[in-house]
Amino acid sequence: MEEKFKPTFYVTTPIYYVNDVPHIGHAYTTIIADALARYQRLSGKKVYFLTGTDEHGQKIEKAAAEKGLKPKELADRVVVRFKELWQKLNISYDYFIRTTEEFHERGVQKIFQQLLAKGDIYKGTYQGWYCVSEENFLPEDVPLEAEGYKICPDCGRKALLLEEESYFFRLSAYQQPLLDFYAAHPRFVRPQSRMNEVVSFVRQGLKDLSITRTSVRWGIPVPGDPKHTIYVWFDALHNYVTGAGYGWNQELFQTFWPADVHLIGKDILRFHAIFWPAFLMAAGLPLPETVFGHGWWLKDETKMSKSRGNVLDPYLILEKVGADALRYFLLREVPIGLDGSFSHEGFVQRVNSDLANDLGNLVQRTLTMAFNYFGGQVPRPGEETGSDRELARSFFETRDRVFSLYDDYALSRALEEIWVFLNVTNKYLADNEPWKLAKKPESRERLARIIYQALCAIRGSSYLLYPVMPETAEKIWTLLGESCQPGEVLKSSLDFYGLAPGARLHQPRALFPRIDLAEFIGEMEKPWARAETAPKTEEKMEYISYEEFKKMDLRVAKVLAAERVPGTSKLLKLQIDLGSEKRQIIAGVAETYSPEELVGKEFIVIANLQPAVIRGIESQGMLLAAEVEGKAIIPFFDRELPPGTKVK
Ligand code: MSP
Repeated sequence: MEEKFKPTFYVTTPIYYVNDVPHIGHAYTTIIADALARYQRLSGKKVYFLTGTDEHGQKIEKAAAEKGLKPKELADRVVVRFKELWQKLNISYDYFIRTTEEFHERGVQKIFQQLLAKGDIYKGTYQGWYCVSEENFLPEDVPLEAEGYKICPDCGRKALLLEEESYFFRLSAYQQPLLDFYAAHPRFVRPQSRMNEVVSFVRQGLKDLSITRTSVRWGIPVPGDPKHTIYVWFDALHNYVTGAGYGWNQELFQTFWPADVHLIGKDILRFHAIFWPAFLMAAGLPLPETVFGHGWWLKDETKMSKSRGNVLDPYLILEKVGADALRYFLLREVPIGLDGSFSHEGFVQRVNSDLANDLGNLVQRTLTMAFNYFGGQVPRPGEETGSDRELARSFFETRDRVFSLYDDYALSRALEEIWVFLNVTNKYLADNEPWKLAKKPESRERLARIIYQALCAIRGSSYLLYPVMPETAEKIWTLLGESCQPGEVLKSSLDFYGLAPGARLHQPRALFPRIDLAEFIGEMEKPWARAETAPKTEEKMEYISYEEFKKMDLRVAKVLAAERVPGTSKLLKLQIDLGSEKRQIIAGVAETYSPEELVGKEFIVIANLQPAVIRGIESQGMLLAAEVEGKAIIPFFDRELPPGTKVK
C-alpha cells in the first residue's frame, strides 16, 4: 500500500532536569532529534522540533536548596547552560519549553481539571515507598530489606514510607485500551524489544497512579486545592502538547499534534509508553506515532556518573574537534537502540579514519586537482564511460537507501551507507588515476570528466550528510559555490549531476585535521593542563558557515536614554528600543561619544548575545563598532529605520 505523504513532522526530546548541567547523554538525544528534524526539513516537510527543561519537583527543590538558591534561580542558570550547549552543537530546535512557563502551567491545570470532571482523576490516600531522588513511588514488587525498608531499584538509595492524601489517575481503567492500542500499533514503541517489554508489563495489570504530592511545594498547584502539587511527571509529560500550542495556539497544535516521534532514553520508557498514552486517551487527544527508546552512553564500559568521575564534558570535546565530529561519532558509533561505550581511542580513530581520511582527504584532493588542472572551475566534462555511469548509479542507490534509513530513524546505518559511497568515490579516483592523466595533454577531456564526477559525488554526499553534519555540508557547499539551501532540496530532486560546468570553486582547506591520540587524551583527562597547550588559532580562522552566521540576531536599536557608568571612563549605560522590547546595554564607547549625542541615534545590536554583567550592571546585548586606536567608532545608518529592523 502506498503510504500517504504527511507534510509535517513533529519531533521531541525529553525535557531535561535542571538539577545538573548537561552532559554527553543529554547531548545524544538532542543530536538525534536534530538530525531527524534537519532531514525532514531537507525533504520538504514543515518541521516542529521541541526540546526544553523539566523544572519542577522535589529533585530541583533539593538541588537548589543545597546551592542556597531558589528553584527558579537554579533553573534560570542551568537553562543558560543547556541553550549554550545546543547552540554550540548546532541544534535547530523550534521551541525550547520550560515547565515554569505560564502557558504550560495553565495547560496542565486545564487537563487536570478536565480529567477530574470526567472521573479519570479522583481523590484518595496513598501509602507507599517513595524515592526522593527518582521522584517516584517504588513499584510494589520491590522487596522489603531485612531492616524493614525498601531500596530504590533505579538509584540504590533508601526509600521513605509515605502516606498522604492524593489525587489518583485511573490508570487501571486504561489497561485494556492500552493493550488494544499496542496491538493495533505494533511500532508505537521502538525498538521492537522495548515494545515487548512494555506489553508484558501492562499485561501484569496496572494500578491507579498517584499524581499529586502534598510534601512538595515546588510545582504546579492542583486547581482549587493548592495544598496539593501536581506530580512532576504528570506536569512534565504534558510539555509535548503545551509546547506545541495546546491551550494557547490552536493552529500550531492542529498542525503538529500528534507528535511523530518522542525520542527518549530507555530509562524513561514506562512513563512515555504507558502513562503518557493513558493520559492522552483520558483527555481525548490523539496519540503520538512513535516512542523511540535509545540506549545509554557508557564511558569505557561503565555508566557515566559524577561520583565515578567519568562524566564526559561535551564542551571540552567540542572545543577540540567541533560539533560535527561529535555529532558524527555519537550517531555513527551505535545503532540508536543499543548502548554505546565512549572511549577516547574509539573517538580519535573514527575522526581520523572516517572524517580526516575518507571524507576530508577526498574533498581536499578533488578540489586541489580542480584548482591545479582547471583553474578552480568546475570542468566541462568529456564523454561518459562505464565507470562514470557506475559511480552515478551507486550514488542514486545510496541516496534512496539513505533516505529510507533516515525515514526509519536508522541514523548509524544511513551514515554507513554514505561512507560506503565515499569509499566507492575514493576507489573511482584511485582506479582512474587523474594525476597520471594530467601529464598527458591528449587526455584532458577524460581528466575533466573524472574531476567533474568526483565533484558531483562530493556534492551529492554533502546533502546526504547534512542532517548529521550541517556545518561540514555547508563548508562543502561554500567550496563548491553551491547556492542551494537545504529547505529547497526536495528528496526527489537531489540529482547527481547538479554542478554547472564553469562554476567557480573555492580554495580547499582541511575539513578535519587529524587528531593526535596522546595529545587528545591528555587534554580530555587533564583539563587543568589545557592552558599549557598552545591554541591552534590557524584552525579557528577557517570560514564560518552561513548557518553559524544566521544564529546572530542583528537588529536596529534606537537609543532612548544614555548615562555614564560611574567610576569608569569608557562605559555608557544605554536604554535602547528594539521594536518589540526595550533593553539595557553597557557599551564601551564613552571615550568617543557623550551620552547626550547618542540619544536618538540608531545602530546595530546583537540581540541574542548571552546577557553579561559588567561592573555589576546587566548588559542585554552588544552594539557593533569598529575599534580605532582603542576608541570605538559606531557605524550609523544613512536614514532613519524602525527600531527592531533585522540586519543581515
Ligand atoms: N526530566 C525527565 C524527562 C521528562 S520528559 C517528559 C528526565 N530528565 S533527565 O535530565 O534525567 O534525562 C533525560 C534524558 O537524558 C534521558 O532519558 C536520556 O534521554 C538522556 N540521558 C541521560 N544520560 C544518558 C546517558 N548516559 N546516555 C544516553 N542518554 C542518557 O529524565
